[in-house]
Amino acid sequence: MWNMFAKCSPSRLRLAALSRTGGLSLASLARVARDPVAGIIFTPLVYTDSMSGAADKTFYLETFGCQMNAHDSEKVVGTLLAQGYRQVPTVEEAGLVLYNTCSIRDKAEQKVFNRLADYKKYRAQGKQFGVLGCVAQQEGEKIFERAPYVSLVCGSASYRNLPQMLVQLEAGSSRVTGLDDRMTDECFETEFTARTNPHRGYITIIEGCDKFCAYCVVPFTRGKERSRTSVSVLEEARQLADLGYTEIQLLGQNVNSYRDPSGIKSFAELLVVVASVGGIRRVRFTTSHPRDFGRDIVEAIDATPALCDHVHLPVQSGSTRVLDAMSRLYTRDQYLERISWIQSARRDISLTSDLIVGFPGETEREFEETLSLMDLVGYDSVFTFKYSPRPNTPALRLEDAIPEAEKARRLAVLNDRQKQIGARRNQRHVGQVLQVMVEGKNVARGQWVGRTSQIKVLNFTAPAGRELATGSYVDVRVTGCFPNSLIGELAV
Ligand code: SAH
Ligand code: SF4
Ligand code: F3S
Repeated sequence: MWNMFAKCSPSRLRLAALSRTGGLSLASLARVARDPVAGIIFTPLVYTDSMSGAADKTFYLETFGCQMNAHDSEKVVGTLLAQGYRQVPTVEEAGLVLYNTCSIRDKAEQKVFNRLADYKKYRAQGKQFGVLGCVAQQEGEKIFERAPYVSLVCGSASYRNLPQMLVQLEAGSSRVTGLDDRMTDECFETEFTARTNPHRGYITIIEGCDKFCAYCVVPFTRGKERSRTSVSVLEEARQLADLGYTEIQLLGQNVNSYRDPSGIKSFAELLVVVASVGGIRRVRFTTSHPRDFGRDIVEAIDATPALCDHVHLPVQSGSTRVLDAMSRLYTRDQYLERISWIQSARRDISLTSDLIVGFPGETEREFEETLSLMDLVGYDSVFTFKYSPRPNTPALRLEDAIPEAEKARRLAVLNDRQKQIGARRNQRHVGQVLQVMVEGKNVARGQWVGRTSQIKVLNFTAPAGRELATGSYVDVRVTGCFPNSLIGELAV
């Protein structure tokens, strides 16, 4: 969800467990950038220092996909560093080249195969290649056949076995797999996490998905839904606070489907305890599924200042008929009821969503129901997608595919409508003083970049000579707005 270019101060980028075991010091990451496609990020995470005295085992890692994939990469990097590897910023320098892949739409697997083909030339140099993540799980051993120079194929449900897989790779195995764990009850919990943002720490609380929406690959690629214990989540939150993090984002494909295996906390209770950890000023959570969205979540936000004023609640379509065909298991009215709970909160909670156009059989009228739902809700922002047929999914069998050009037209209409709604929604902030966490400075424009509790980007000016620390919280008076951002000046 982040549209930011982070600069991390090395002293804050600590990896506590590694420091304890290996005396490792970590340098800053290269960059974190967001692809124009909503929520899909590309993160060359680069930790440049090595463990002193360790053999020079090097790796390069490239990541595509959602925030959960990016956070998995932070844990994969931590695991490799703990095994004595050193991260390098280019394929050329690496002994082991890893891709953490995403399969959500747009012939993702083809793109991965094309990319792997580009790297065939490195085979003679003895480099090893590994494919991780959702395409790895989806394509499995077929990857070895199409790209014989790949020697590791591992889905996210098997990451906890990475140390053993690395040993096999080092012993020269040419076909190491981690593909059989989709029914596991275990999560990828590790004390080694190479975090790339020094202020905002991510914690996965639930993995996998059992919902099997008709269009979606995630249940096939990430395995069964499984939660971590609330005790372990809380412990990680405390560790982050001890390291100086002030913002925590709880992650899950459906974060609010969380079920504490120890039965101690509901999701709403977990939100409250995490937000009550000393030093934590902001807690976000994403993504919420409407089916499991209870009033208690809104009550928790109302009662707990550190919970952010923002809920991301993907609706996908405004038509009950289409929602049924998508197997979303809620109607338009049930969704709108949840929205009314959120809108009747005492706090001004911003609302964002995901929308799909051109699901097979979607009529013009049904598409217009999506537009009317957008008007009714008044989203602060939305991520919009053209329906993309994906392997294994039930929607592949549906007839009445919508032509590409028509999908593109509907997408443009939707985006246009949201532009108007977003601009209107942002107007209400003009004149308000909002607290932001400072994320950086746009030197060319002479503006600081901050993010509000409502997850809005606020670009603002400060008096000449006034320097602001990244990660600090300041009050900003909003003086104007655009459909996707606010502008303002530091309030003194
Ligand atoms: N678990 C979340 C969504 C995770 S996937 C939920 O259920 O709301 C992120 C978004 O990608 C989805 O909300 C959906 O809008 C989009 N998406 C998933 N599969 C897609 C497909 N086959 N075609 C187009 N968009 C898709
Ligand atoms: Fe995909 Fe549906 Fe699961 Fe979301 S709830 S990850 S859209 S199957
Ligand atoms: Fe992509 Fe897998 Fe995330 S398919 S969106 S990386 S869960």
